[in-house]
Amino acid sequence: MSRTIPLNRRGIGASQLVLGCMGLGGGWTHDPLTAEHLKEAHKVVDTALSCGINMFDHADIYAYGKAETVFGQMLKERPGLRDQILIQSKCGIRPLDSSSGLPKRFDFSKEHILASVDGILNRLGTEYIDILLLHRPDPLVEPEEVAEAFAALRQAGKVKGFGVSNMSAAQMAFIQASLPEPLLVNQLELSFAKLDWLDASIHHNQKEGAAVPFPEGTLEYCQMKNVQIQAWGPLAKGIFTGASLEGQPESVKQTADLVASLASSKGVSREAVALGWLLRHPAGIQPVIGTTNPERIRASAQALSVELTRDEWYQLYVCARGRAMP
Ligand SMILES: NC(=O)c1ccc[n+]([C@@H]2O[C@H](COP(=O)([O-])OP(=O)(O)OC[C@H]3O[C@@H](n4cnc5c(N)ncnc54)[C@H](OP(=O)(O)O)[C@@H]3O)[C@@H](O)[C@H]2O)c1
Repeated sequence: MSRTIPLNRRGIGASQLVLGCMGLGGGWTHDPLTAEHLKEAHKVVDTALSCGINMFDHADIYAYGKAETVFGQMLKERPGLRDQILIQSKCGIRPLDSSSGLPKRFDFSKEHILASVDGILNRLGTEYIDILLLHRPDPLVEPEEVAEAFAALRQAGKVKGFGVSNMSAAQMAFIQASLPEPLLVNQLELSFAKLDWLDASIHHNQKEGAAVPFPEGTLEYCQMKNVQIQAWGPLAKGIFTGASLEGQPESVKQTADLVASLASSKGVSREAVALGWLLRHPAGIQPVIGTTNPERIRASAQALSVELTRDEWYQLYVCARGRAMP
């Protein structure tokens, strides 16, 4: 079911489905980009556009920068496309550096944010990105410093809007308090395989709630503040929609069966049911699909026309939980 999503309410014409670009550029190797990778980027973007998807999600670290680089090469061959799409990227994760012996770490310093955006723009070959997300919470964050970085980026015309990823309501509110403009996005892992965002609310005031590793109130905060919630990993690598079920627990197999049966009765793809379940939530979630397979992009786009009833939504939730509601 398609909704008016928070970004649309702010006048940003984003599609409800977002194409996640982590799989572009040949994956997590240091092998050089090839003509095949560029061809794949063209095909993925063509298919997304033909399905009405106009928003693309990146991060400076994806495929060690090659995802953005190949996307930039694709843009260069298609003058005019840049202004028809929305590009979001992320910074703040510094990968393991074996030459200096430094571990993977997070960095929201002004210096790092500014340098990261210059790298992103350089790889994408664009003068601006539409949205910049802070990728994962940095315990050493100083919100005033983040605010200075954001102000400099906005003033230079390098970034049009800002958001966060993998953050709780409290972490968002802490940063928001120093910003003159609203955070637009919070990107979180949400799927049948990652249900703590719902379990946190249904187990409130219960012993079991203490064990749910998701801070209560994050969804409510985003809904109240018109923050766009984006779902990363929404297809859970396909285990509910056709990927191998070998070694998976019974609840995953039963949920995959239920997804298949609902898809068949509604005459839609299994991806449409899995993503349609996220779309049915009143927050107006944007699933960020990570497939590079054109068939699966098209199958995913069917989610926009699927209608799940309240009962079907609960059937899927309870089945994926693997236990009854409290
Ligand atoms: N903010 C964060 O911390 C964060 C973290 C991770 C990812 N992300 C973003 O979210 C996007 C999506 O994440 P994701 O890739 O983990 O999510 P996903 O959309 O749940 O999974 C996509 C992956 O699952 C595979 N897949 C899907 N259906 C399948 C099936 N039926 N059979 C076999 N394989 C299947 C896809 O392979 P094919 O390509 O072959 O279809 C692809 O490798 C990323 O591209 C990135 O933009 C953000």
